[in-house]
Amino acid sequence: MSHADDNAGTRRDFLYYATAGAGAVATGAAVWPLVNQMNPSADVQALSSIFVDISGVAVGTQLTVNFLGKPVFIRRRTEDEIEAARAVPLSDLMDDASQNPNKPNTDAADENRALDESGEWLVMTGVCTHLGCVPLGNGAGDFGGWFCPCHGSHYDTAGRIRRGPAPENLHIPVVSFVDDSTIQLG
Ligand code: FES
Repeated sequence: MSHADDNAGTRRDFLYYATAGAGAVATGAAVWPLVNQMNPSADVQALSSIFVDISGVAVGTQLTVNFLGKPVFIRRRTEDEIEAARAVPLSDLMDDASQNPNKPNTDAADENRALDESGEWLVMTGVCTHLGCVPLGNGAGDFGGWFCPCHGSHYDTAGRIRRGPAPENLHIPVVSFVDDSTIQLG
């Protein structure tokens, strides 16, 4: 099988169809066991890339998909969320790294975390950087972003840790646009 055939098969098999607001992963105090994060099984590792149809995600909503055994939040942010994230001085941040492998060694400015220049799309691994719970979204917490109910970590509208025990901003996976309505994870 050629490489191209292989890619086509991967795309066909693992294309998600977004339903605005729908998520495959329940919110709440679910915990992603750290052991599974560090040692994904062989079949999970084989799914090293998936394509997600984001055409159905309305502004102000979030789609959650599973990727490599972890939830990934795909949020289409409102103007207010973007504005709030971009108004925060870097000196106010607890973690000054972007935690974005797509823009390595950059600071945590919102522009270094959003997927597109306008900042409308924010894609993050939905695993609290404290002990691995899945944070609540849709404006949860004191900073209008995500809140981890396990031990009280508050993340802002850019997914940056602002208060609580989590040491780092929510991590961003390897992600890119394939076209206007499709993103590739991995
Ligand atoms: S696991 Fe999120 S605050 Fe502890």
